[in-house]
Amino acid sequence: MSTSGPGPVENSEDIRLQLRSWPDVESYLKRCKGIIVPLGSTEQHGPTGAIGTDALTADAVALEVGRRSGVLVTPPQAFGMAEHHLGFAGTVSLQPSTLLAVMRDVVLSLATHGFERIFVINGHGGNIATTKAAFAEAYGEARRRQLPVAGQLQCKLANWFMAGPVFQEARKLYGDREGHHATPSEIALTLHLEPSLESLQRPLPDAAPAGPIHGPDDFRRRHPDGRMGSDPSLARAEHGATFLELAATALCKDLEQFLSHQNP
Ligand code: NI
Repeated sequence: MSTSGPGPVENSEDIRLQLRSWPDVESYLKRCKGIIVPLGSTEQHGPTGAIGTDALTADAVALEVGRRSGVLVTPPQAFGMAEHHLGFAGTVSLQPSTLLAVMRDVVLSLATHGFERIFVINGHGGNIATTKAAFAEAYGEARRRQLPVAGQLQCKLANWFMAGPVFQEARKLYGDREGHHATPSEIALTLHLEPSLESLQRPLPDAAPAGPIHGPDDFRRRHPDGRMGSDPSLARAEHGATFLELAATALCKDLEQFLSHQNP
């Protein structure tokens, strides 16, 4: 198998699976066995953040990583595990068991065609445990189905918002006001991607601090406006451009390592 991505492309259209034909994908697989899957969520992001924040950001980072590496990018999985946000209008959640089944089947479909390295770029903390469980199920099922790639199949979860340089930049710009949900860093990236979202922005009072959450009603009680310790009014579109650059650089490096890693 190839040991790195095919190399940078001029236009992101070239790496979008949605815009390729099946013969394109078949010939791509002769050069590279890796693919990127953006994973987001459709959930409240405080009183001034877009419902689609986690899906918009994951997709943007994935397309930039794809453009730089030449690795194909699937359509984003825009619904995630957001059960605890269901107390707020507009949230659309998959139960953990549903998301697990979706991600397992996405991996298995790709593995059936010969993809051996599935790199999931995630924008939502609530997806992490379930996605890792989905990988475990996919490995087992690939083996049971005796897929030719079963012995080579590897999946990796890359959370763009947890990449070291992104985290450090958020701390530098916002300190403790970065918070834990509806963070200025993720809102800044959406402002960079969708300038119309500037119209939602306004100064906000201090948010309730992060704490344990036990279901949607408890979340709404503890965090009445949906934020957890964050001040998204600090977000600026130009910060968002920096976050995209930092995230894409860090995740490209992770992806190259992931693609070159051989099973013993
Ligand atoms: Ni988010």
